[in-house]
Amino acid sequence: ASFNQITSGLQLQTGIERPSKPFLIGIAGGTASGKSSVCAKIIEQLKHIDSDGQKVVIISQDSFYRDLNEEEKKKASKGEFNFDHPDAFDYSRMLQALKDLAASKSTLIPKYNYISCAREEGGDLLEQPDVIFAEGILTFYFKEIRDMFHMKLFVDTDADTRLARRVARDVQERGRDLEHILNQYTTLVKPAFEEFCLPTKKYADVIIPRGADNIVAIDLIVQHIHELLRPSKNHFFSLPDVSESLYG
Ligand code: CTP
Repeated sequence: ASFNQITSGLQLQTGIERPSKPFLIGIAGGTASGKSSVCAKIIEQLKHIDSDGQKVVIISQDSFYRDLNEEEKKKASKGEFNFDHPDAFDYSRMLQALKDLAASKSTLIPKYNYISCAREEGGDLLEQPDVIFAEGILTFYFKEIRDMFHMKLFVDTDADTRLARRVARDVQERGRDLEHILNQYTTLVKPAFEEFCLPTKKYADVIIPRGADNIVAIDLIVQHIHELLRPSKNHFFSLPDVSESLYG
C-alpha cells in the first residue's frame, strides 16, 4: 500500500502542467540601451542550441504609441511632445495583444512610424509564437503587463553611451536634427527615464550591464531559457512527502 501511495504521489507531482506556453520575456531599459540587440543576440544563440525550432518573435512597446491630436502633433514635430511618459502609450492595446499571444491567439501588432509620429496602415499579424520578447522603455511600468512576463530583463547601459547612440540613430533613421534631439533629450527623455523607467529596474530578474556587449550575461540567460523550454525539464519533479505513508 505504501509503495502504491508513493508511486501515485509521483505521478501526481509530475503531472503538474508545464510552465505556460507561450513563454513571455520582458525587456526594459532606457532609450538606446540596446534592448533590441539583446533580444536579437539571445534569439540567435537560442537558434543554435534549440533544435526543436520554437517560433520566436520580438514585439516593441513603440508599436503601441497612441495616436496624437493636432496640437500634440505640432509639439512632436518640434521635439516637445513627451514620448517617454506612460500616457504616450496605448496601454490597453498592448495589454490586449499580450493577452492574445499568451492565450495562443493570433494578434495584430500595429506599425509605428517615427518620422510621422503616427501608426501606419495595417500591421504585423503574429500567429501563435512559442516565445515572445516584449521590449520597451516602460515594459515594466504597467503592473498588469509586468505581471504577464515569465522572465524580466533590464538592460543597464551608461547614459552617455545611450545619448551618443540616440543622436546617431535619430539623425540617420528618424530624420531629426541635432538641436531637436538634444532639446528633447534634456527636457523630456532624461527626466522621464529617471521618473518612470529607472524605478522599474527593481522588478527585473536579471540586470544586464552594458547590454548586448555583455556576452557572459547573454550566455547565462540563453542557457536558462533553453533549460526552461526543454520539454523534459518542463515538469516540476519533486518527491512526494512519503513520511506519513511509510511511518504514519
Ligand atoms: N520616440 C521619439 N519619437 C517618437 C516616438 C518615440 O523620439 N515619435 C522616442 C522616445 O523619446 C523614446 C524612444 O523613442 O525615448 C523609445 O525607443 P527606444 O527605446 O530608444 O528604441 P529601441 O530601438 O526600442 O531601443 P534599444 O536601442 O534599446 O533597442
